[in-house]
Amino acid sequence: MERIETPVIVINVKAYEESIGERGMALARVCEEVASEKGVSIAICPQQVFLAQVASAVSIPCFAQHVDAVFPGSHTGFVTLEAVKASGAVGTLVNHSEHRMKLADIEFIVSRAAEIGMLTIVCTNNVRVSRAVSALRPYSVAVEPPELIGTGRAVSKVDPAIVSDTVKAVKEVHEDCVVLCGAGITSGEDVRAAVELGADGVLLASGVVKAENPKNALLDLVSGI
Ligand code: G3P
Repeated sequence: MERIETPVIVINVKAYEESIGERGMALARVCEEVASEKGVSIAICPQQVFLAQVASAVSIPCFAQHVDAVFPGSHTGFVTLEAVKASGAVGTLVNHSEHRMKLADIEFIVSRAAEIGMLTIVCTNNVRVSRAVSALRPYSVAVEPPELIGTGRAVSKVDPAIVSDTVKAVKEVHEDCVVLCGAGITSGEDVRAAVELGADGVLLASGVVKAENPKNALLDLVSGI
């Protein structure tokens, strides 16, 4: 499975109005433009319905926002890792704080993804959960304190210890794991703080998706790398 370059900025466009259809495609193009103009690593998590469309239109890595813990088969309305792979995505978020999963299902997805060459970014809410999920050996762990999500109060500034302690705890268990942090990240300074705390990148949403000018927002964010 191909790893992505770090430090990386991962943009999760969530289910925001601003990321539906053409607007989501425009956001993905902005990410691609900034990645190539600035030579930085940017990945995007499009809305599920548009994943294949976005993945075939842009050259940056695309991740699903969620997959279900099932093999392909008789399941209505479920999304499988195999379908996400066929869509052109390189991996998936798992256990986002807005889409929590059971431990057994997280384990199923992380293991199956490794078998079929897909990357998993497992979201966590604190240091202990980060340490616990790193034992499953996912590609990445992204720590996001839920109370800071969407607030514009950056985890890397408001709660630096959760970032540095997560990096330490995860790397002790799984040295190659890519450790991201997220919640409230909106500026280059927030990104710089995260990287200085040892994170391999950031996971963010509203700072770009809800920005008046997403390209300017992204240019500011990458200035912190
Ligand atoms: O997945 C990223 C996310 O939960 C953080 O959201 O809006 O605080 O960047 P936001």
